[in-house]
Amino acid sequence: MKKVIWISFLIVMLSSFKEPLTGKTQKAIQIIPKPREITVLSGTFEMTDNTSIKADQVLVLKAEQLRAYLSPASGYMLPINKKNAEENIIELKLTDDLSSLGEEGYKLNITNKKVLITSYRPKGIFWGIQTLRQLFPDEILRKAKVDNVEWILPCVNIVDKPRFNWRGLMIDYSRTFWNKSQTEKYIDAISFYKMNKLHMHLTDDQGWRIEINKYPDLTKIASKFDTIYHEPPEREGYYSKEDIRELVRYAEARNVEIIPEIEMPGHTSEVFAAYPGLSCTGETLSIHPFFKGPEVNDDVLCAGKDETIKFLENVLSEIIELFPSEYVHIGGDECPKTRWEKCPLDQKRIKDEGLKNEQELQSWFIRRIEKYLNSEGKKLIGWDEIIEGGLSKTATMMFWRGDQNVLLAALNQGNDVIMTPTSYCYFDYPYKVISTEKVYSFEPLSDKLKKVNPEHILGVQANFWSHIDRSEPTMDRQIFPRILALAEVGWTEAVNRNWDNFSLRLKHHNKSLDLLNIYHMIN
Ligand code: ACM
Repeated sequence: MKKVIWISFLIVMLSSFKEPLTGKTQKAIQIIPKPREITVLSGTFEMTDNTSIKADQVLVLKAEQLRAYLSPASGYMLPINKKNAEENIIELKLTDDLSSLGEEGYKLNITNKKVLITSYRPKGIFWGIQTLRQLFPDEILRKAKVDNVEWILPCVNIVDKPRFNWRGLMIDYSRTFWNKSQTEKYIDAISFYKMNKLHMHLTDDQGWRIEINKYPDLTKIASKFDTIYHEPPEREGYYSKEDIRELVRYAEARNVEIIPEIEMPGHTSEVFAAYPGLSCTGETLSIHPFFKGPEVNDDVLCAGKDETIKFLENVLSEIIELFPSEYVHIGGDECPKTRWEKCPLDQKRIKDEGLKNEQELQSWFIRRIEKYLNSEGKKLIGWDEIIEGGLSKTATMMFWRGDQNVLLAALNQGNDVIMTPTSYCYFDYPYKVISTEKVYSFEPLSDKLKKVNPEHILGVQANFWSHIDRSEPTMDRQIFPRILALAEVGWTEAVNRNWDNFSLRLKHHNKSLDLLNIYHMIN
């Protein structure tokens, strides 16, 4: 009797097993972020040395990219558009029929004869390719040939599109400099999880990190810590224009838009190591590591000097030329007003412009810069302090301090907002304070916000400030795996999110992260 119960139990268990059992071993489906709709069918597709890629002419570059993803581990240089190949193919195809999935949406259909990725725009094809990479055995991510692996895919139908357009990561290059290969590693890893923005915080009190031809001392002098601190040389440095052009191209090919940030009017004391005339006092400063001096410096750009505005316009014109992004981030956070209160030129500006106080001077300053950016066809983003003293209706606010009144004021006014609250999105904070589960629990559209212009919430972003964790392994571990949770918050509809389900999937990504050369906490 007992035996019968045991066998019935086994039969029930096996028949309720979601993935079909086939002769070939296939990987369980553990995609992050979770797709909108996924139907698992019976059967498998096997990539062999006879498989080829078929692609519309406009997608040949994507086909080459797909081949480059698959060839190192498999050893197959899949031919593209092989004559008369209709079976054993991976096909990439654009269609206007999928316009409802938007630029980033895609469909992935896998049968035992072919893999088909369709989308409205090439961005969707690229995300479909990332899903495909996640469906292959993890070994597909290896950079060298792997023997004895069957490159099996489960037969599935997937329909997918993101919930939010902005799914970002900010890296602070000022407190600690991170080089080009580290940045490329991050672009590879975040794009594997369908994140699409890299916000480069390029300037701050601890160093200026981008070449500007008109002001060579910004890199010659303002990119270096004072030698009295004996900082290891890899923590300082800067990006040449050629580096940036290469990075922008690298990111663009992986659906990642790079948004540059040039801080103003505060967090600019490094500038005064090279160009002291731009501050209120004119004093030449030296650059200290974050914990060796004031965390927020009283010396800020003098808003009363026309040469400050000219300096910023000249810098921004070179930035605009380098970065195709529709946005430029101008910082705007944590600007003490103590110098402006005492500076005759700032007081004169307040009087001349009919402003009430230093808060309004900050607002005047931001609007002045926004006017310049708009005249060059760019949109302004700033940290949420840009609302102080009045915010222009066209600026985009990066919401970090968590004050709901600030958020509601911006949304009520019709400003776009990117959600990066310290309570969920600050990845320099320890895991004890912001666990992966806490990140996953972040709901960017609370019921209250749903009633106030929810379409103005563009999405979410993780911020990594590099004052505490200053080596690649520690930085990696601060970001991974938490960012996988945020990737799902940004991509997957709220009704499809579930922590227990996510945490089970997450366990299967330890190996992927290893193969992406990411140091990470074990999931
Ligand atoms: C910030 O964390 N100061 C934007």
